[in-house]
Amino acid sequence: MSDKREYDVVIWGASGFTGRLVAEYYLNTYGLDGDLKWAMAGRNEAKLKEVRSELGNEGVTILVADSHDEASLADLVSKTSVICTTVGPYALYGDKLVAACVAAGTDYCDLAGETQWIRRMIDQHHEAAQKTGARIVHCCGFDSIPSDMGVYFLQKNAKEKQGEYAQHVKMRLKSAKGGFSGGTYASMGNVMAEAAKDREVYKVLYNPYGLNPRDAMKGDDVADLTSVKRDDDIGGFIMPFIMAAINTRVVRRSHALAGFQYGKNFMYDEAMISGTGLPGRLKGYIGLAGLAAMMAGKPGGLYKRVLDKFFPAPGEGPNKAEREAGFWNFTVVGVMADGGRVRASVKGDRDPGYGSTSKMLGESAACLALDKSKTPKVSGMLTPSTAMGDALLERLQEKAGLSFEMR
Ligand SMILES: NC(=O)c1ccc[n+]([C@@H]2O[C@H](COP(=O)([O-])OP(=O)(O)OC[C@H]3O[C@@H](n4cnc5c(N)ncnc54)[C@H](OP(=O)(O)O)[C@@H]3O)[C@@H](O)[C@H]2O)c1
Repeated sequence: MSDKREYDVVIWGASGFTGRLVAEYYLNTYGLDGDLKWAMAGRNEAKLKEVRSELGNEGVTILVADSHDEASLADLVSKTSVICTTVGPYALYGDKLVAACVAAGTDYCDLAGETQWIRRMIDQHHEAAQKTGARIVHCCGFDSIPSDMGVYFLQKNAKEKQGEYAQHVKMRLKSAKGGFSGGTYASMGNVMAEAAKDREVYKVLYNPYGLNPRDAMKGDDVADLTSVKRDDDIGGFIMPFIMAAINTRVVRRSHALAGFQYGKNFMYDEAMISGTGLPGRLKGYIGLAGLAAMMAGKPGGLYKRVLDKFFPAPGEGPNKAEREAGFWNFTVVGVMADGGRVRASVKGDRDPGYGSTSKMLGESAACLALDKSKTPKVSGMLTPSTAMGDALLERLQEKAGLSFEMR
């Protein structure tokens, strides 16, 4: 995107739970007269005005469009350098917006964790986006920025300090505190509903390389962990991590887009640390049972309908006190060719899904809009690390409360 537009960033979906957090973050961080020109957008003007009143600043610009109305979207995306969208489930509301951004050469970032939809967007738009110069970056929240940027950070340091990249990287969620929003729960439900209907969707979800370029969908990586096992690198037990299903695919796509610089045999996996000794093993099995109970609901079935009652509705999520009391902490282990290890930690200072996610997404959009001279000269269907690299790493640490440290 080279022509100067009216706004740097438009937050699309600002009436939703996460969108309004991004708007609040922008108001507090960038104000209205600073370097970043931004506006809020959505389909319901009255709701957006309510959000604006809650933000306490009537100067915030409101734009109106609808996810299903192509003309309104074309108009919206022509006004801004970057669309920052929290309108999900993306598989239900995202198609036309991505197409409009690609056509107009407008940069784009989102919080999609819906692998099957991202696969469709890559297949439909990668080549066209390369031609128009649009940078389309999915997964700019808790999935998958800590993983994608964590691997980028660890490997950059391994290369600088040891002269070579790690051959295998293990990402381990050590601890986290936070909650769920209705929008996230709805998006997960939609993924399961699509997979139940269409075998091709199921195949994409279970392929470890499901988001790689079509000619690079094979490698040494295996399916995500589905059991509890010991990991000597962390000195305890590990259990499945639900976000691994999207994060591992994003890291592998980054590696492919960057030309397999860590080597064709590079391997990557994710898990949660459940603890040490017998208590750690037991905690792992309890967690496994909880995950199984959550995933067992057949779309439309009675069990799923009962389960739905225990989760928030769209528009709801953890309150301010819960977000501020939240945090997350990953340990990253790189296995070197000689068997040595390099280690890093990646941490966030708010709950993963909303407090931290809204800042990560906001900074991704700001990075696309303001840091073009510092980011890689690439376009197409990208990932956070391949689109923004060091410039994003800097912003996340300076502004979004993340830390990346070698141990
Ligand atoms: N990756 C992560 O780490 C992460 C974290 C948090 C959230 N998420 C994802 O982000 C998405 C949003 O979550 P949320 O909890 O903020 O959801 P939400 O509160 O339900 O908000 C959804 C937004 O979409 C808007 N919308 C729905 N249909 C639309 C249409 N036809 N045209 C325009 N706008 C429309 C809604 O507008 P109205 O207000 O007018 O209904 C609302 O602003 C979900 O897909 C979720 O999975 C991901």
